[in-house]
Order: sequence, then C-alpha cells, then structure tokens
Amino acid sequence: MAKTKTAYFCRNCGHQSPQWSGKCPSCSEWNTFEEEVIQRGNDTKPTAGMVRINQPARTVKELESQNYPRYSIVDQELHRVLGNGLVPGSLVLFGGEPGIGKSTLLLQLALQQNKMTVLYVSGEESEEQIKMRVDRVGLQNDQCWLVMETDIEQIEAHIVQVKPQLVIIDSIQTLQSKLIESAPGSVSQIRENATRLLKVAKENNIAIFMIGHITKEGSIAGPKLLEHMVDTVLLFEGDKQHVYRLLRTTKNRFGSTNELGIYEMQGSGLREVSNPSELLIQQHQNGLSGSAISAALEGMRPMLIEIQALASTAVYGTPQRSTTGFDLRRLNMLLAVLEKRCGFRLGMKDVFLNIAGGIRMEDPGMDLAVISAIISSNEDIALPELTCFAGEVGLNGEIRPVARIDQRIGEAKKLGFKKIVIPKHNKESEQKGIEVIPVGRVDELISVLFG
Ligand code: TYD
Ligand code: MG
Repeated sequence: MAKTKTAYFCRNCGHQSPQWSGKCPSCSEWNTFEEEVIQRGNDTKPTAGMVRINQPARTVKELESQNYPRYSIVDQELHRVLGNGLVPGSLVLFGGEPGIGKSTLLLQLALQQNKMTVLYVSGEESEEQIKMRVDRVGLQNDQCWLVMETDIEQIEAHIVQVKPQLVIIDSIQTLQSKLIESAPGSVSQIRENATRLLKVAKENNIAIFMIGHITKEGSIAGPKLLEHMVDTVLLFEGDKQHVYRLLRTTKNRFGSTNELGIYEMQGSGLREVSNPSELLIQQHQNGLSGSAISAALEGMRPMLIEIQALASTAVYGTPQRSTTGFDLRRLNMLLAVLEKRCGFRLGMKDVFLNIAGGIRMEDPGMDLAVISAIISSNEDIALPELTCFAGEVGLNGEIRPVARIDQRIGEAKKLGFKKIVIPKHNKESEQKGIEVIPVGRVDELISVLFG
C-alpha cells in the first residue's frame, strides 16, 4: 500500500513546502506552516484515458425543477432566516462571538424540534453544564440525544447508530481526526472534519448545524473554504451588554440572505422577538431633545428604531465623536454635510450617537433620523411628536431615495405614527391615516422640523 503523503502549507499565502519552517520563504510570515495530507495511503491514482463517465451531461431544458422538501422549524425566526425551513442534507455553519448564545439557540432548536430525532454533539461542555442549560430553557424532547465527543470517527458512528434527521455540532473547532497530526482548531483539522460532515450530511440526507467560533476580526475562524463548503452561513450577533441578538445569513443556497431574525436573551433562554419595533421604541419619550425615530429596514424587515444624539460644546480641545450601533465614518460625513450645507457649527462640539437596544444597523435610510436627532440636540428643541424619518443623505445635502418606502410607511402607521418624513424622489403611494412629508434637501428638513 502506498504511504500517506503530507506537505506543509502556509496559512497566509498558500506556499507549499516538503518540510515545516518557522518563517514562510514566500510571504515572510512567521508560524504559518501547517501540515496537510495531500495523498492518502489507500488512494490509487487513476490511470489516464480510461475514465468512464458516470453521469451524462444534460441540457438545462431536460432538468426537472427541484422543489426542496423542508423541515419546518418551530422557532419562527430561524425558520424564516433559513429560507422557510431547513433543507434535509444541508450543512449550516453557525458563527458568533463567544458568549453570544450560539449553544443556547441550537440547544433550544434541538429540544423544540420534538417531531425529529436530533443528535447534539458537544465538544465544549460537560454533561452537567448542558443539563443545567436544558433545565434553564425548560424544553423537552424525548428524541434528542446527547453525546460529549470530539473524535470525528466516533461522531460518525453515533450518527449511524442514532439515525438522526438533525445533528448539531458544538463546535467545529473542537473536532479532531486521527488522520491529521495538527491540533484541533487548525486549518487542516477544520477542513478535514467539515469535509467529512458534509459527506455524512449529503449521503444520509441529514441536516447538520456546525457552530463556528469567530476571530477578533469578526470572521469565522478557520479556512475561508469552510464558508464555501457549507450551504448556509448564519451569524449570530449583538452587544453582550444588551439583551437583543440578531440572526443574519451571509450565504444561503436555499433562500434569500436578506432575512433577519431577532431574539431577546432572557433568564430562560432566547425568546423570539416578532414585533421588534414595539420593543425598540417603547422607552422613547416624547418631548426630549436629541431623540428621533427612524423607519429603518434591516434586510427585508421594516423596523422602527430610536436614535439618540447628544451634541455639546467640547470640554477638551479636540471634539469627540462616538457612536454605538452606527458607523462612525458615516456620522462624521453627516456632520460635515450639516456644517457645510446648513451652517450648523458642529466642528467644535462633542457628538455622541446611540442606537437603542444595542443593535447594529447599516441601513443608509437612517441618515435622515440621525441628522434630525443631532439638530434637535444641538438646538435643544424636541422633534414633533409621533413623527418618524426615512431617507439617505448625500454629500451635497440632497435627500436620496431609499428602498421599500411603502413598507417603512406601513410599519410607522401600524405603530401609530401620524407623520413620516421621506425623500422627495421616493414614489410614495398614498397611505391613509399617516401624513407623508416629502423633503428634497437637508435645509428643507429644518423648516419641516421646526416650522
Ligand atoms: P452560550 O449559549 O453559552 O453562548 P455561546 O455558545 O455563543 O458561547 O450563552 C452564553 C450566555 O448566555 C451566558 O453568559 C449566559 C447567557 N444565558 C442567559 O442569559 N439565559 C439563559 O437562559 C442561558 C442558557 C444563557
Ligand atoms: Mg457555546
């Protein structure tokens, strides 16, 4: 039998070398070499020319349209984010920072799916810890099997024995294969184990969730290849100091990546938030300066959210600008527009901006609410009551149209708002029961705000 061949690859640039070395001769990075199997002992090389075709090529017209059967998921947020259910045989990567609630959410999933046989594999926690969490979330599923294991061969054997429809792996970084020398969590271990899980999922039509850790930079630890291999990448994020958690997809072969799920971390696990707007603006008090409500959009979902700004004369020489949940560079840009186009003297002021609930939003449609909150704080005049805003601000002070204006207006109306300020160029459809105020430029906004 031929010997298993290995080589060393640089994690940074991919340089291949027959032996390990501390410094990569190609990119000069230190400590980046990892051993990888390039040919397994029992593989035989195919002889050239004599390959038989397994599957003839077909024209696109001949293809039958596939309707993926899906398991419906009890957790409605996850159900929607996955693209209306879970596809059997799919491999899902579930990433998030430590302590954000990944294990909690997937344990809840395992327990909620009481019509399915589920295997929960944990390489991170002890049985007692998991038992404590099961008690905490207060759910039960007689067909949920638990195993503390990190050895991929053992896990495969458990899958054969339990015959689950759903497998949860906590986490991919703890798994190890004996075929690979390097430690668990290394690039080659992750790649090998994920490949084997992919094979198990496809061959047995089992849906597999793999929890993946996140690096300091916010990407999933391990080879980028991991994200290419799986069908769906879910990211669980939020501010640990706050109770809200957002579930997004950055890749989904079976649905849109625009869906967003929202959860609230409680003493008894994660609770689905089906009406985010009501929660995010419930602490809003009318009559205070510096606060504006934005009719924002996260993915496909319209959401009303409170924005708070504080502009005050800088105590120290250099003014400070700080934000939570909003891009700092965007704030600086908006301040420059206000200064240049409307003559507000904000250059010597400290400006703080805060998005309620510790939620991070990227919708440019929030600009209009952000500048309204800043102007309101700067002038110390409260904004008109029951009014909300949607619009993007351009460098010339023009208010640019935003996506899905009807949904934003609809959401504002649903929550009892009387007025909404929108870009002039958004083709508005008349909605009864709410006054729509179109504005074309930032200076027009001022007269709308303060009459
Ligand atoms: P966990 O699921 O362990 O996070 P991850 O797997 O992403 O590292 O959850 C971590 C935090 O969640 C933990 O600090 C405590 C908190 N928590 C609650 O607030 N309520 C609960 O019911 C549970 C189970 C956890
Ligand atoms: Mg965990």
